[in-house]
Amino acid sequence: MKLLVCGGAGFIGSNFARLRLLEHGDEIVVLDKLTYAGREENLHDIREHAGLRFVHGAIEDAEAVAGAIEGCRAVVNFAAETHVDRSIAEPDAFVTTHALGTYVLLEAARERGLRFLQVSTDEVYGSIEEGSFTEHSPLAPSSPYSATKTGADLLVSSYFHTYGMETLICRGSNNYGPYQYPEKLIPLMVLNALAGDPLPVYGDGMQVRNWLYVTDFGAAIGHVLAHGGPGEVYNVGGPDECPNIEVVHRICALAGRDPAELIEHVTDRPGHDRRYSLSSEKVRALGWEPRMRFADGLEQTVAWYRDNPWWWEPVRSGDYREYYARQYGRELG
Ligand code: NAD
Ligand code: DAU
Repeated sequence: MKLLVCGGAGFIGSNFARLRLLEHGDEIVVLDKLTYAGREENLHDIREHAGLRFVHGAIEDAEAVAGAIEGCRAVVNFAAETHVDRSIAEPDAFVTTHALGTYVLLEAARERGLRFLQVSTDEVYGSIEEGSFTEHSPLAPSSPYSATKTGADLLVSSYFHTYGMETLICRGSNNYGPYQYPEKLIPLMVLNALAGDPLPVYGDGMQVRNWLYVTDFGAAIGHVLAHGGPGEVYNVGGPDECPNIEVVHRICALAGRDPAELIEHVTDRPGHDRRYSLSSEKVRALGWEPRMRFADGLEQTVAWYRDNPWWWEPVRSGDYREYYARQYGRELG
């Protein structure tokens, strides 16, 4: 199958492209705007593969989309602005990419009669104190990031209801693994711990996330693309949940650092969701299940960052330093 993978130079999209190309023999066209989070380095080992074509362009640019989509049988849309803190500081790009970009892609897929899978997030349901969200739970996003992702989901569903297009939505929980930009909790804490920099925990650190290894999410998306029902939504949750403070303690142990020396509780994120949790029964009924437990995945992730400074050194010495100083009010060491 030839797939258009939008946002395929980002963290999850590049892991998905690798999985489909090397393990399923798909042909892949990556369309990516190469924002600060999108890097061709994320595709370094498959960039020259005969089955991969890379197109530099934005999903809101109809011409770029038309140039990339020719011959594809389905569209998988990972392209997004993905960091909640950036959406609080500067929401513009979130609105453009999630609303306009998803619309342009949907139109291109509709004209050609293609299957369309939207990669979405558990954040569309908001926070839950106890229990887990199902696909029928009300949508109650809290941040500009999750609100614009919710808007995109609703637009995708409208193309199923209105035009009978074959749409699918996968709502994933927090992903972790190789090639994740270090603004996110796990890679930020790993790289800071390896460097001996302070570890900035928001508020009391008792917020809970449901951790999903990136290739497990990729496998679920492939599964839904092949077996999902048109118009359906599938929650994809990780096997283990963990409070942030415990995640940071575990990272310190794996990096050989004393948490008491490095952890700093800093001002909380505005509107911070306390806990996410998904019921994944529906996608499990299609035959998918997560393979990686959090303890093993975290150990492998810390080892990957330790072993691949070629990947993160240019990031940590570039624009990210300015972002970090703005966000945390201090310079990276
Ligand atoms: P990421 O920030 O690492 O990658 C996003 C990619 O999209 C980048 O390569 C970027 O250049 C590209 N992009 C951004 N705007 C674009 C545009 N207008 N046109 C074309 N390309 C554009 O993000 P990620 O963590 O890999 O997330 C991928 C998708 O998965 C997103 O839709 C996100 O909402 C969703 N998701 C992420 C997580 C998570 O924990 N990271 C969990 C659930 C769902
Ligand atoms: O739940 C899925 C979502 O997971 C995705 O849709 C988003 O794209 C992705 O960014 C992620 O959102 P979160 O806000 O949960 O991830 P983040 O890594 O930013 O934060 C995880 C938790 O860690 C959250 O409770 C905030 C906290 N945190 C984060 C950072 C960056 C800190 O305590 N300190 C930090 O410096």
